[in-house]
Amino acid sequence: MKDPQRLLETAELAAWRLARNGPIHFVPTMGNLHAGHLALVDAAAAEGVAVIVSIFVNPTQFGPDEDFERYPRTVEDDLGLLRGRCNAVWLPAVEDLYPLGPERGFDVRVPEALAGILCGAHRPGHFDGVANVVLRLFQHVRPHRAVFGEKDYQQLTILRRLVSDFALGIQVDAEPTVREADGLAMSSRNRYLSDAERRIAPALYRTLVDLAEQAAEPEDSSSPGTLRALSRSGMERLAACGFEPEYVEFRDAGTLGPAGSGPLRLLAAARLGPARLIDNVVVSRH
Ligand code: PAJ
Repeated sequence: MKDPQRLLETAELAAWRLARNGPIHFVPTMGNLHAGHLALVDAAAAEGVAVIVSIFVNPTQFGPDEDFERYPRTVEDDLGLLRGRCNAVWLPAVEDLYPLGPERGFDVRVPEALAGILCGAHRPGHFDGVANVVLRLFQHVRPHRAVFGEKDYQQLTILRRLVSDFALGIQVDAEPTVREADGLAMSSRNRYLSDAERRIAPALYRTLVDLAEQAAEPEDSSSPGTLRALSRSGMERLAACGFEPEYVEFRDAGTLGPAGSGPLRLLAAARLGPARLIDNVVVSRH
């Protein structure tokens, strides 16, 4: 870490950027940081590189009935966790990113093939909001490299597409999901769970791991019919545990298109009380 950590306002960002002579690595977040976020920050660090983290709870990616208002905002704690880990923390204001207001500026749209499936089918407009804010964050920071978590696998896939379609020239890297000891993927939304729900929550990951193992078994197990049957059994198992499952689906790991002969990813979302949990695992085919 070459220079001490700076807390930047948007007006200071350009000068900070100009003063760097090496590459800039960027980790966008919505704050309420946990070990999953910190793993991205640590992965972004390298000799001679300046690491900048943004904290911004983006209004355009929350639906009208979603948790924008109650999303945990813990900036002081976040700054404490980031101390010594990155060179700069940027806290944009809404009007910095959306000068005409969140609803009135330019609007990028995620292609339907990526936005209309999985989480996108259950959260209309969510990924458009993510694409819009990340494009704006990227244009302010103009990083050489950005690091995201595999935890939000559909988001990651969409942002890779955004960067390549607009030729942004940013290297997008992904880090594996950081989990609690019982397998639950770390998430700012886990704090919405009651003690009883928290005990149920790891069943989401366990279900995915079991299904992925079954899909990896050699005897004809990865035919489309078998994968559909496995997905159905996953939905039933989650419902039996007390979740309201939204989807359990095998998808092409690169495009998120229908499962074919290439590498697969297994993805799921399920409601548990007030929380909506998502997770995904790799499917290793033998
Ligand atoms: P947020 O949910 O704060 O996540 C910021 C980054 O941390 C994302 O890349 C996410 O995938 C990663 N992350 C979250 N939990 C993780 C875990 N358990 N293990 C590893 N990585 C994890 O994702 C967003 O914010 C927003 O949509 C954003 C991209 C900042 C745009 O507003």
